[in-house]
Amino acid sequence: MNTTCGCKSKFNAAFMKNLEWYLHHVYGDYKKELFSKLGKNVLEIGAGTGTNLPYYKEGTNLTVIEPSKDMLSYFLKKADKYPLNIRVKEGFAENLPFEDNSFDGVVSTLVLCSVQSPVKVVEEIRRVLKPGGVFIFIEHIKAPKEGLISKTQDILYKGWKWLFEGCDLKRETGKLIKAFFPQSEIKTVRFNSPFIPVNYHIIGYAVKTD
Ligand SMILES: C[S@@+](CC[C@H](N)C(=O)[O-])C[C@H]1O[C@@H](n2cnc3c(N)ncnc32)[C@H](O)[C@@H]1O
Repeated sequence: MNTTCGCKSKFNAAFMKNLEWYLHHVYGDYKKELFSKLGKNVLEIGAGTGTNLPYYKEGTNLTVIEPSKDMLSYFLKKADKYPLNIRVKEGFAENLPFEDNSFDGVVSTLVLCSVQSPVKVVEEIRRVLKPGGVFIFIEHIKAPKEGLISKTQDILYKGWKWLFEGCDLKRETGKLIKAFFPQSEIKTVRFNSPFIPVNYHIIGYAVKTD
């Protein structure tokens, strides 16, 4: 896998940057609660344009791994404005360049839909978390069959995946997380946003028990 750059990558980075206000509006309260569970040493995978920066506790040692140079250029422009110790790595979450049991917390928001191998990524997250460490996540998922949302997912599936660089509308990410983290609290939340195919989400946290 090569890190990404190109027209579509630039479009996606600009799109996410312009969507930030909306992401705060929709997820802000959930994020405040979830991020309060994090300890001092935290890894964020697929940090994008840095939408999550305002939610970290002051003094957090934050490592981010992100494959898109275009996303990172937005991220780096604002990273200094937050009272955090930030270390940035360009790369993919399928192969985390960190030792086992390195972090107190791992964060993933709207990333497991886009990674090439969600199984490998969740396995890696578990590996780099310390025992007792917390994985927090907000991810959109496959909608229950038969409804309008499910139908729009079927219709838009291929085009969406092409435009949004691999974003898969039909992943069952909650089941995957549960398989690797039996101790998890996962809520399914249905939003009523104009982005109909991504209205079903899982929001929650998981703890590495050994
Ligand atoms: C929809 S954006 C979400 C960005 C950010 N997490 C947020 O909530 O605003 C998806 C992000 O995942 C990143 N990504 C895609 N594949 C990845 C991978 N294999 N490993 C890590 N990040 C990845 C993309 O570059 C992009 O920044």
